[in-house]
Amino acid sequence: MDTEPAVSPSPAAPPVALCRLDALVEGTAIALDALPQAGGEPLDLILLRHAGDVRAFRNVCPHAGRRLDYAPGKFLLQRGQLICAVHGATFDAVDGRCVAGPCRGEHLQAVAVRVDSGLVHLAPEPHPIGLSGTSG
Ligand code: FES
Repeated sequence: MDTEPAVSPSPAAPPVALCRLDALVEGTAIALDALPQAGGEPLDLILLRHAGDVRAFRNVCPHAGRRLDYAPGKFLLQRGQLICAVHGATFDAVDGRCVAGPCRGEHLQAVAVRVDSGLVHLAPEPHPIGLSGTSG
């Protein structure tokens, strides 16, 4: 009689914690590097808090592929719009859509995050975008 080898599911990797929720001040953005659970290159992220929600985007402008910060970790975020420091493309902080500037209609690449126990984590789902910051 043939017997199949026992297969046990691999344990789930712990979620990748990015920062404390209270480190994200409403109306501001920070830069972070994060290693995805699946491995690969570090993700260069923009993490921002807008209207109580946490959003994350790759720190790569769709116009010319440059970082959006004007100095390391310093972003122009005004009235719910994130402005690329290189040529002024202006992005909606909620969905990352460019609403003005040289790449109008394109999007920042959203990265899924979730808030749990006062920490912001990379979410395991491949689809965007942030969750409410009220659980922490
Ligand atoms: S690289 Fe961002 S607007 Fe040109």
